[in-house]
Amino acid sequence: MKYDIDKIKDFAIGVALEAGKFILKNMKKALKIDYKGRVNMVTEVDKDSQDIIISRISKEFPNAGIIAEESDTKTVNKNITWIIDPLDGTTNFVHGFQCFAVSIAAEIDSKIILGVVYDPVRKEMFYATNGAGAYLNGKKIHVSRISRLIDSLLVTGFPYELNQYFYKNMELFKALYEKCQGVRRTGAATIDLCYLACGRFDGYWEFNLNPWDVAAGSIIVKEAGGKISDMKGGDFSIYGKEYLATNGLIHDEMLEVIRKYI
Ligand code: IPD
Ligand code: CA
Ligand code: CA
Repeated sequence: MKYDIDKIKDFAIGVALEAGKFILKNMKKALKIDYKGRVNMVTEVDKDSQDIIISRISKEFPNAGIIAEESDTKTVNKNITWIIDPLDGTTNFVHGFQCFAVSIAAEIDSKIILGVVYDPVRKEMFYATNGAGAYLNGKKIHVSRISRLIDSLLVTGFPYELNQYFYKNMELFKALYEKCQGVRRTGAATIDLCYLACGRFDGYWEFNLNPWDVAAGSIIVKEAGGKISDMKGGDFSIYGKEYLATNGLIHDEMLEVIRKYI
């Protein structure tokens, strides 16, 4: 089936805006919280934001596949599958640390062709479509031009569970910190990718993410001129378990450090 990508993009931007407004309105509310793991929370706002997004998608694309974080059933349709994180940065949201976003991506024929990430606090709408560049609030964005690791600001994230990835990343954190200007941890993978795309960070790595954490952000990074791979420099997949995204210029230098730890 043929889709008008610009129309889909405008649709997804509208949906992300609506979900973002809803999240913002509920920011100071007493939240009903459930636990998916040791410290991995899900609030009613995550679930309601997802309902808003899915109900709009189901009306417009009744046969679409949907992979959404808070749904038990994940369906894939080769024609079009939507990959949704209705609230990325839930721990931040719960604590009132204002760094979270809505993330919506569309996959057609197994290729991500659209990504939208909306930060409702800063009213920053990041988006990209395949081959048409990446944008922030309508202005084209580009990754940074910093070419040495020693001049770079990096970012990473840690899994909720204290698993092998957590401890491995603790070691890597130290090793990379020693080689750059600083390493940040925002607590929202979608924000990390978008900040890399617009040059606020120069490199980002993380283990153990899910497709909804990276689907939209990855196309935004690529379309902004960045590079994304696995931690050995191999092909990137949203279904992989490790990601290295950079401005392209410090990719090899980061890989060299990482190689000693994985
Ligand atoms: C989390 C955030 C965080 C990352 C975690 C993710 P959630 O997503 O993106 O930055 O380090 O691994 O699970 O649970 O807030 O949607
Ligand atoms: Ca997430
Ligand atoms: Ca989430």
